[in-house]
Parts: sequence; C-alpha cells; structure tokens
Amino acid sequence: MRKVNIPASKKYDVYIESGLLSRVGDIAKELVNPQKAVVISDSNVAPLYGERVLESLKSAGVEADIFVIEAGEDSKNPENLIEAANFLIEKDLTRSDLVVALGGGVITDLGGLCASLYQRGVALVQIPTSLLAMVDSSVGGKTAVNLKNGKNMFGTFYQPKAVICDPEVLSTLPDEEFSNGIAEIIKYAVLRGGKSLEILRSDSISECIAELIEECVKIKRDYVCADEFDRGDRQFLNLGHTVGHAIERESGFEVPHGSAVAAGMCIVARACAELDMCSVETAAEIELLCKKYNLPTDSNISAEELYSAATHDKKRQGAKLSLILIKDFGNCFIHLTDKEYLSEILEKGMVSNL
Ligand SMILES: NC(=O)c1ccc[n+]([C@@H]2O[C@H](COP(=O)([O-])OP(=O)(O)OC[C@H]3O[C@@H](n4cnc5c(N)ncnc54)[C@H](O)[C@@H]3O)[C@@H](O)[C@H]2O)c1
Ligand SMILES: [Zn+2]
Repeated sequence: MRKVNIPASKKYDVYIESGLLSRVGDIAKELVNPQKAVVISDSNVAPLYGERVLESLKSAGVEADIFVIEAGEDSKNPENLIEAANFLIEKDLTRSDLVVALGGGVITDLGGLCASLYQRGVALVQIPTSLLAMVDSSVGGKTAVNLKNGKNMFGTFYQPKAVICDPEVLSTLPDEEFSNGIAEIIKYAVLRGGKSLEILRSDSISECIAELIEECVKIKRDYVCADEFDRGDRQFLNLGHTVGHAIERESGFEVPHGSAVAAGMCIVARACAELDMCSVETAAEIELLCKKYNLPTDSNISAEELYSAATHDKKRQGAKLSLILIKDFGNCFIHLTDKEYLSEILEKGMVSNL
C-alpha cells in the first residue's frame, strides 16, 4: 500500500490503494477505536459507496450511520453544516467517536468543519472520492463552508486522523470532474516537474493513477508543511488561481473550477513567455497538457472584466497582490506586485486578445 505521512501540527497518513474502501473499518478501529461513526456523504456518492463503508465499519465492530446531503457546491452551506451536527447529536456521537467524510471536496470541506466544531473536535477520517479531493482538498487541513457573501469564508484548520484514497472509485467519476482534478495536477507538475509531469506526458495515466495521486499528495504536503497556516509558501498553490477565480466569478460559476484554473495557468504561462521569463516551448507544453486532458486554454471573457473581477477583493487588502509566475517546469516564483501588473499579464496572456 502507498502511504504518505503528513507531518503537520498533528501527524497523519494518506493511504492510497485500490479496494481500500472495504478496509476503512479496520483502519478507523486501529487509529481511533471509536464505538460509533457517522459517515457524511452526498447524494451521488452515498448510493455508490455508502453501504461499502458502513459495512466495513460495522464488521470492525463500529456502530455506523450515514448522513447524506444533496450533491453540489450549493450544499456547502452553514445550514447543512448544522443539520449534520444535529445528526451527530441524534446518534449520540461522543468525543471519542468518529466522523467519516466520504465524497468530493464539498464533503471533505463540510465534513471536516463539522468534525472540528462538534464538541470542540471529534476524530475525522477523510475518504476523498473525486480526483480533486484526493490530490487537493483532503490534504492540508483546511475545512470550510460557503457564506452568502463569500466562498470558503467560514472554516477552520483541522487535521484528520487519516486520509483514505481508493482509486477504484474514480471509475464512476464523471469525465468533466476527472478533468477538474487533472487541472490541479497540471498545476503541481508546473510547480515541481518530476514524476507527476512524466506521468501527465505519458499515455498511461489510468495505469499510473495511484502513483500520480501519491506524487501530488507529496507535493501538496511539502507546501502545506512549510506553511500550515497559509502565510507564505502555500501561496504557490495559487498558481493559475488569481485569473482562474476571476474566470469562475465572471462566468457566474458556469465555468468549473478546474477549467478556470487551467485557462488561468495558460494565460499566465503565455504572458511569462511574452515577458521572457519562460520559454515559448514551456508555455506551449502547458497548453498542450491542458488540451490533452480536455481543459480550456483561454477565456472569452475580456481582459478588462477579468482584471476588475480579480482585483475586486484586493481593494480591502491594499494595492499589492501576489502572482505566481513561471520560469520553467519546477521553477516558479511568487511575485509581489501591484494590480497594474496583473492587467499586463492578462493583456499579454490572453489569446483572445491577440
Ligand atoms: N480544503 C481545501 O484545501 C480545498 C482545496 C481545493 C478545493 N476545495 C473545495 O473542494 C470543492 C470541489 O471539490 P470537488 O471538485 O471534488 O467537488 P464535489 O465534491 O462537488 O464533487 C464533484 C462532483 O462529483 C461527484 N462525485 C464525487 N466523487 C464521485 C465518484 N467517485 N463517483 C461519482 N461521482 C462522484 C460529486 O457528487 C459531485 O457531483 C470546492 O468546494 C472547493 O472549495 C477545498
Ligand atoms: Zn484549485
């Protein structure tokens, strides 16, 4: 079994292996030894995998129930958080018991927050079922729900006891959601190069998926452990995200996060090539990788609109913003700059502007 240790303020392992869903009970028993567990999941994932996880917990001698919320980002709200917490009370879950979050990033975020707040913190096991959740949201300890006026505005830092990735579950993930996860993986490959880049370049991604997940978890681990509370190096993980978030917002969230990040990364890469920071070949290969995995490389929203969407939040934070720029695969840097520089990046990087 692949195992990546995360030495955050509380240490834990990410386990990666096909078929692990049936071993959740044993792992939970060994690490937490709860009497009861509540699985939090969504309306797509629960019918597919809920029973398998409940059975595994029960055969390890753990009493287990499941709480299911409607699938989708709209469900990541305080109302569902409170509903989930009330369900834990209903089931008499105590501080020595366990919350299991089984689903994509919406569930790992909401379930994680629920576990961190319930009775001031109850043990949590994350079982990410989307590619994005496996390589991104379930590692690092950030939990949140959305508020009316801001995404991820209500959350905590809370590390799980374990993260259990079973790549088999990816067989039911819709193609578009798979591509969403790949966008973050391309981001890791640009930041670090190495094995993740090699696998993306190859034609054997499905055979190498466990290795790819392991590589990405290690990359995220390195950034997170260098900067658990997000004040410095963790910013590298925002590569493609300043422009990506602007695309998401301006499209009224019609463009999914992964697609927006892919386009954001390509815009930044082309601008970096224009400005002689990276080679034209590097920028072209980033585009090629996005195309290969069915991700967009540009946006039809104008540079002006993206600029105003991207700087909208910055008004309160003063005139400076951090952009992650590219020199080469495995060689990116944080550029603390003023807002006007972003305008230049957008002008230079958008194909639709050329
Ligand atoms: N905490 C963090 O550090 C962090 C990092 C990145 C993203 N996030 C959050 O993660 C969320 C996005 O995650 P996501 O893309 O996984 O979204 P998601 O949880 O909405 O999952 C995407 C869709 O795939 C379905 N799904 C998941 N696994 C499946 C499977 N195995 N088979 C069939 N369907 C499946 C879900 O039901 C959903 O419809 C956002 O809310 C984002 O803010 C958090
Ligand atoms: Zn992202």
